[in-house]
Amino acid sequence: MKKSLGAKTLVFPTPVWVIGTYDRRGKPNAMTVAWGSICCSTPPCVGISLRKATYTYGCLMERKAFTVNVPSETYLKQADYFGTYSGREENKFDATGLTPVKGDHVDAPYIQEFPLILECKLIHDHEIGLHTHFVGEIMDVKADEAVLGENGNPDIEKVKPVLYSPENRVYHGVGRFIGKAYTIGRK
Ligand SMILES: Cc1cc2nc3c(=O)[nH]c(=O)nc-3n(C[C@H](O)[C@H](O)[C@H](O)COP(=O)(O)O)c2cc1C
Repeated sequence: MKKSLGAKTLVFPTPVWVIGTYDRRGKPNAMTVAWGSICCSTPPCVGISLRKATYTYGCLMERKAFTVNVPSETYLKQADYFGTYSGREENKFDATGLTPVKGDHVDAPYIQEFPLILECKLIHDHEIGLHTHFVGEIMDVKADEAVLGENGNPDIEKVKPVLYSPENRVYHGVGRFIGKAYTIGRK
């Protein structure tokens, strides 16, 4: 028997990503999102959903650019901080000691210390309700050499991204390898 839990934003897993933007004076800011996913292959795009109340919302609208910064488990505390305080009141980079670096392709900062970065150009914004969905075209992916696997792509076990469990409001690490996609299900 399944129990109905009602209409909720509850699905497993969601990511823990930190969105980098500049405000109108050029101050770098960082905000955590769990409402995010890849949303198109060609052109390569990523979608994130932000409330208008966030400082990042205005920064993104103004600069039309953002970065997606994937924290490793090592930076979980900082990622949680970025999602707890607003850049309206705080300089979050000063407070965490993390390093904002101007993107090579877009007008937004990325976080030097995080292992995996997407530089994104805003191409759509769609107000849904409380959240507005922003679609960014991925202009570049950057990864620390230390997290690359044998095939040259980032290795999930080396990046050690964080998973979020909505409603329970807890973080989890990535589990063990369990199979190859487009392979394990072959007839
Ligand atoms: C794990 C986690 C996930 C979050 N996900 C989102 C999200 O997807 N969208 C959103 O609008 N706020 C989300 N938040 C809240 C914002 O990160 C928070 O309001 C932040 O202070 C906004 O920063 P800013 O005002 O500097 O932009 C999340 C917070 C945490 C801790």
